[in-house]
Amino acid sequence: MNLPPRVKIVDVGPRDGLQNEKDPVPADIKIGLVHRLQDAGVKDIEVTSFVSPKWVPQMADAIEVMAGIQRKPGVRYSVLTPNMKGLEAALPTRPDEVVVFGAASEAFSQRNINCSIAESIERFAPVVELAHAKGIHVRGAISCAVGCPYEGDVAPERVELVAKLMKEIGVDHIGVADTIGVGTPARVRRAMEAALRHYDIDDISGHFHDTYGQALANTLASLEMGVWQYDASSAGLGGCPYAKGATGNVATEDVVYMLHGMGIDTGIDLDKLIDAGKYISDYLQRKPNSRASTAILNKRAA
Ligand code: HMG
Ligand code: MG
Repeated sequence: MNLPPRVKIVDVGPRDGLQNEKDPVPADIKIGLVHRLQDAGVKDIEVTSFVSPKWVPQMADAIEVMAGIQRKPGVRYSVLTPNMKGLEAALPTRPDEVVVFGAASEAFSQRNINCSIAESIERFAPVVELAHAKGIHVRGAISCAVGCPYEGDVAPERVELVAKLMKEIGVDHIGVADTIGVGTPARVRRAMEAALRHYDIDDISGHFHDTYGQALANTLASLEMGVWQYDASSAGLGGCPYAKGATGNVATEDVVYMLHGMGIDTGIDLDKLIDAGKYISDYLQRKPNSRASTAILNKRAA
């Protein structure tokens, strides 16, 4: 086994985690989560989305949230920008990275961003160009890389096609996303292999929702392929508004516990990370959706 010695985690809790919350979460709570994550040593934080407030009302305070963060040197703050309007709104807030998000399934592309895969690439191309002109790194998410809530199983060839299209327009890095958490290790491996035909191992990450409890297994399967970058969500928060029934990303706490137990460095202080997840869970009046967090909080209470 050739496991990477170090893993980079992007905590997507403030964005993917909170975007699906029905009641508006105040900007200062979102900012408080970002601050706690960076204090825990998280070096990459997906803060918010510049999307239509009619589509995702929870992200309507994107400017306020970005403005309220006291930035820590060495931390990369990313935001979602599906089109030029999103990028133009995001630029004054000085993101370090922007994320364009496409899908390997036509039906999901339509439901999520209201256009076909081909049209989405046309929309992303100027976003990539302008972001690069401003010195901003561009990540691309490929949703429904193994399964789609509308189309069912998604073939690896679909992932390969979107990876190729993203490469052609200059997207720097791609995230292979199991949006609805249906993937199992062999299928996730095939989706990763498809993405690896167009992107280097250093430019690929895994983004696994945990709906069926497979996300840690899928993370391990990807680690064994050498993939060393993962998105995860503080306290396991989240879900996509356009993927009904899908739960949050794998909890960052669970991934960090697993990696540290395997001797893999993340630069994250697990105890402080637990506190960050507890902070947002307390606000939402629920328990953190993380087994490692539950175990450690129980131990602390004993
Ligand atoms: P559209 O309707 O095709 O866009 O939406 P449009 O250009 O025709 O504009 C329609 C209206 O939206 C206009 O406003 C625009 O100004 C406005 P109106 O005249 O009706 O008042 N608009 C915008 N407003 C703010 N920011 C913008 C923007 N663009 C247009 N950027 C659009 C296209 C993509 C905007 C829309 O479909 C949308 O906002 N979708 C939301 C998508 C989303 O946020 N999904 C969740 C995040 S993705 C995800 O969770 C998956 C991921 O985690 C990976 C995984 O797990 O799979 C990343
Ligand atoms: Mg997601």
